[in-house]
Amino acid sequence: MFILQIFLLLFAARARALPSRAHPVTAKVIHQVPNGFFENIAVRADATLLLTSVLSPTLNALDPTQVSGTLVPVATFPNATSLTGIVELPHRPGVFAVAASVTNSTSRATQPGSVVIWSVDFTQDKLKPEMQILGALPQAASANGLTVLRDVVLAADSALGAIWEVTEDGGAIVLQDDTMLPNAPPPALGINGLHVRGCDLLYATSGRSALFRVPVSAPRNGRVGLAGTRIEKVADFGAGQAPDDFAVDPEGNTWVAVHPGELVFVPRSGHNASVVVGNEQGSDASMNQPTSAAFGRGSPEQERTLYVTTGVGQVVAVDVGQSKS
Ligand SMILES: *[C@@H]1O[C@H](CO)[C@@H](O)[C@H](O)[C@H]1NC(C)=O
Ligand SMILES: *[C@@H]1O[C@H](CO)[C@@H](O)[C@H](O)[C@H]1NC(C)=O
Ligand SMILES: *[C@@H]1O[C@H](CO)[C@@H](O)[C@H](O)[C@H]1NC(C)=O
Repeated sequence: MFILQIFLLLFAARARALPSRAHPVTAKVIHQVPNGFFENIAVRADATLLLTSVLSPTLNALDPTQVSGTLVPVATFPNATSLTGIVELPHRPGVFAVAASVTNSTSRATQPGSVVIWSVDFTQDKLKPEMQILGALPQAASANGLTVLRDVVLAADSALGAIWEVTEDGGAIVLQDDTMLPNAPPPALGINGLHVRGCDLLYATSGRSALFRVPVSAPRNGRVGLAGTRIEKVADFGAGQAPDDFAVDPEGNTWVAVHPGELVFVPRSGHNASVVVGNEQGSDASMNQPTSAAFGRGSPEQERTLYVTTGVGQVVAVDVGQSKS
């Protein structure tokens, strides 16, 4: 039994594939909501962070350039308890898509028929944006990360293991695959974050501990085309590690929030991923249950700062300036 234990320890050590980065970075908690739970983040061109929470139907703004800035509620969504994905529409700068639903934050069960994707338009008023329904997804079992392909909003369904395209007439599944499924009953999640990178769609599946890539083509007549379904695993985070959402930098590298406690850098090539902040045990207080990441905007200093949200109500500023390769 002793030998078996040693074997298991060695095996566990070997399964640990990701080294820490050679150059340490600074990570600083810039905001903490007691008993909070930030789910996702997007950044306005004026540097303001927009934060969603599965515990609330209210979208909050935070100015990261202020020392101890305060959360400012900017929009509350009707018939919802939770907000998840948020993404700026590239064809409408200053307008963000937000996923709202009635979701139990403990069980992660979403009330059937409750998923609605809204647009939130800050172009006229930064404190009182104009809200409109982009489309409901009545058949979705959950809505998690959002991304945009040209002008089509895509939503990850963590329960069905699928990607929806948002349309005015109820949406449609554009891809459903085993690589997007949860690996256990709820609250375990399948596909979580997704982002378009050039001609590829990248997605992280919590239950598969991995980041995947699938080629996509530009939508035709509003319908998304998948160039075949050649799905490829880009990075593996190791058993028990659950990737959530991630940021893609201008070079195409990804910075992945991984539960329970790592920010992982995956070079565009997919080779030699490494831990930027935290560790696989989740014992680093500055990287506790990271959920999402987005680069700052508005100045060179902001652009080299990665803002990471966490499931314990934190916003962490990571200076990745010297770390980018
Ligand atoms: C919210 O739900 C109520 C009751 O189902 C419905 O009448 C109302 O139109 C909904 N509001 C929105 C903005 O969807
Ligand atoms: C949410 O789910 C938990 C765990 O399944 C359950 O105990 C709780 O009652 C649920 N809350 C609501 C408001 O349904
Ligand atoms: C990965 O790291 C190894 C060891 O440091 C190195 O030899 C190799 O060239 C790296 N591969 C890539 C693709 O950077």
